[in-house]
This record gives sequence, structure tokens and C-alpha cells, in this order.
Amino acid sequence: MALAAPRSDTRKEKPMQTPAASSSPGTDEASLAVAIRLLSRLPGPFNLEQMRLFFHALRLSPSELAPFRLFDEDQYRRNRIHLNEHCELLLLCWQAGQRSKIHNHKGSLCGVRVLEGVATETVFERTPAGLAAPRETRELAVGSLAINADTDIHQVANLQTNGRPLVTLHLYSPPLRAMEAFSPDPRPRLLPREEDCPEFHI
Ligand SMILES: [Fe+2]
Repeated sequence: MALAAPRSDTRKEKPMQTPAASSSPGTDEASLAVAIRLLSRLPGPFNLEQMRLFFHALRLSPSELAPFRLFDEDQYRRNRIHLNEHCELLLLCWQAGQRSKIHNHKGSLCGVRVLEGVATETVFERTPAGLAAPRETRELAVGSLAINADTDIHQVANLQTNGRPLVTLHLYSPPLRAMEAFSPDPRPRLLPREEDCPEFHI
């Protein structure tokens, strides 16, 4: 897999109509179906440029995505749209305040398109001690595309106010089989608290 391109490709794009989707003039109703048909015929995993082109050509219909737009009260929800040996397409739905763990996508290329709301992505780098140190935080508006190579470490969150939801489309290629979660502190400490102890701080 060619991953020589920059670590991440983040840009705001307008949806583009594919030649196949243009067979339905005036409507994009077939867009997700066309994409799934393309994914089901992949001869192998995407490289970075192929994934970028896939997202550029993608045109999505809210009605096609509606069955996958499902939220969970306790944590962000991953709703699978398509899975085969070379890729997995998911719609992730985030309530306000929900966030992923700090993680990489070990062995997979990951493309994320923001469909609704604003995603906050924090990129981390690994310290010699194996910890995750934050390097950059950025906001990804609707239409933004971020493509991460397998060893890139990041965290995605919905930090919007007023309870606004966040919906993101994720394409992993090959499908995520293993990923690593990181902690900014490998030595979590249980702080003993004694009743009425005035020195207790968190
Ligand atoms: Fe991720």
C-alpha cells in the first residue's frame, strides 16, 4: 500500500457527482448504492490517492443514509453500511460531548468525511515512553475530508454546544482488524480520599 503521501489530507470539498450517479439526472438517490457497488468490486485495498478520489466522487443522499443514522446515549455509535475483505464503510453518529479513545488504525487506511456538524480532531504523536502527546487540534466542518495512515494517532470528538449532533462517514481499507488505544498518562492513579480530608484535590 502506497502511503508516501502526507500524513493527513484535510480539505473542505463540495460533493461531486460520479459518472454512474449522473445516470439519475436531477437526483442523487442512487449515490450510496453506486458507492457500495464499487466497493463490493474492489480488487484490493485502497491506497491513499484511490481513497481520496473515492471521497471526491462520492455524492450522498440523506434518505439513503437515514437507516444508518443511529445514535447511542452512552457513547458514539458505529453503524456499518458495508463490509468486505478490502474495506469497511461506516456511519458514525456522535451526541454532543461524545468522543473516541486516542487511537491509531493499525494496518488500515482511514478516510473520514464530515457530513453533519463539526468534528474536533486532535492529532497525537508518540513519545519515546510510548505515551500519546497532543500535537494539534483542528475543527473539521461539513464537507471536510481527513485521511489518516495506519500509524497516525488521533482522537475525534463532538465538542459542539447546544446538543448538536455530529455525523461522519468512515472508510477503512482494509477493514480495521487491530487498532491501538493510547493514554496520555500510563500510570493512572487511584487517589485515596478520606472523609473530611482538606488536602484532597483532583
Ligand atoms: Fe480513527
